[in-house]
Amino acid sequence: MNIVILAAGSGTRMLSDKPKVLHNLAGKPLIHYVIKTACKLNPSKLVIVLGKENQDVENIIQKSTTVKVNIVIQHEQLGTGHALKQALPVLNHAEKTLILYADVPLIDEKILKALIQKEGSTSNSLSILTTVIKDPTGYGRILRNAANSVYRIVEEKAASQKEREVCEVNTGIMTAPTHKLMDWLKKINKNNEQKEFLLTDIIPLALKDGIKISTIQIEHNDHALGVNNREQLAQLERQTQLSFAKKILKRGVTLADPNRFDLRGQLECGKDVFIDINALIEGTVKIGDRVTIGANCILKNCTIGDESIVEPFSFIDSSEIGRNTTIGPYARIRPGTKLADNTKVGNFVEIKNSTLNQKTKINHLSYIGDTIIGKNVNIGAGTITCNYDGEKKYQTIIGDNVFVGSDCQLIAPLKIGSNKMIAAGTTVWRDIPNPSKELVLNTKIQQCSKLRSKKD
Ligand code: UD1
Ligand code: CA
Repeated sequence: MNIVILAAGSGTRMLSDKPKVLHNLAGKPLIHYVIKTACKLNPSKLVIVLGKENQDVENIIQKSTTVKVNIVIQHEQLGTGHALKQALPVLNHAEKTLILYADVPLIDEKILKALIQKEGSTSNSLSILTTVIKDPTGYGRILRNAANSVYRIVEEKAASQKEREVCEVNTGIMTAPTHKLMDWLKKINKNNEQKEFLLTDIIPLALKDGIKISTIQIEHNDHALGVNNREQLAQLERQTQLSFAKKILKRGVTLADPNRFDLRGQLECGKDVFIDINALIEGTVKIGDRVTIGANCILKNCTIGDESIVEPFSFIDSSEIGRNTTIGPYARIRPGTKLADNTKVGNFVEIKNSTLNQKTKINHLSYIGDTIIGKNVNIGAGTITCNYDGEKKYQTIIGDNVFVGSDCQLIAPLKIGSNKMIAAGTTVWRDIPNPSKELVLNTKIQQCSKLRSKKD
């Protein structure tokens, strides 16, 4: 069957400069969800109606889809009926059409399959997906006659007090016989409170044509909630996050509080992982067995080996962390970092694009960038690799078993051989080779003066 996704609305109630469908839910734009679900149904035609050409939206559409998409532009936002009309020329008229709204993101394919199968994909019926909501404010109400058949959908603005009390609402999702749609959509008008062509106005026209109207009422309306304003977006975000948290708990991970856990991507965890409150997981994160993630940590596109501990308030981004490491509290591990097994990175340490080999420790207040550090190295508090000269970035290489005292500046490009000891407060601005040509460098280097050449 054909699938049309309506996504052209201006999203006025979001009070935003960007299209509503680009607002994020669990880290992904709203429109991503409906497209993913639509693709699972393998439509013969997938049409997305947009309000105007927008490269950002089109990029997301291309990224989200696994089938060919036809993008149609609705140049003026004259309502859902008018939006659907723009898609008609592209549709296969021998097949039915499933209509989805981009701002109802959590609808799942099982429910849609049930709706499609209800009357078969070629029959002349019109099926509407409805749900019962405690507070139906803002939704179109489903009006039924004494025989319980739907005769109309009334929008909130046009509804009488009595009609507003109806809690069965229109999810916006329906299937309709495509060859009839043009006729009905030509007949609807803008004589309503919204001054728009309302798709819901096709119901009486369909009935007049002898078309059967059927409904499926979904029990858990979580899947049918629409996003019209920021409050609804926030509600859906919390609901989505709680459902992620429950899935993670089921997989044997302890979450200190499932209500204070946020996942914006994929998380894979080993056994007996503990995640404290306010964790934010972004992108693809893999955590090994018996790992502890402290409170208020952000983990983004990283792997963390077994038995490691990430202490509170640490941020790990696009990095590989080995086994039995300790990170933080308050550590920042930036992209391109590899921490081997048994390493330790303490508080207020920033590491960027660097490798630390086994048993190396940077315990306090350091910046290490573009650096390779060997095994069993100690970097003292306040040590900084000066990797930037204002124009370019340079690398620092430190051998095994090096001891760098507190408050050293290592000026890149720089190579320090193995088994050296750099005393506190040293500014190292030329290589300390290994094996060393200068005997003095094999022993303790007292203060920066010993490293400075006469020339400088
Ligand atoms: C719509 C339904 C309402 C239903 C609710 C469910 C109509 C007339 N009303 O109301 O019965 O309860 O959804 O969430 O259909 N759009 C366009 N072009 C337009 C206008 C809208 O493409 O000119 C798109 C929007 O981008 C959105 C969808 O259609 O994805 C729904 O539009 P919206 O204005 O949000 O309708 P609601 O007021 O929520
Ligand atoms: Ca809506």
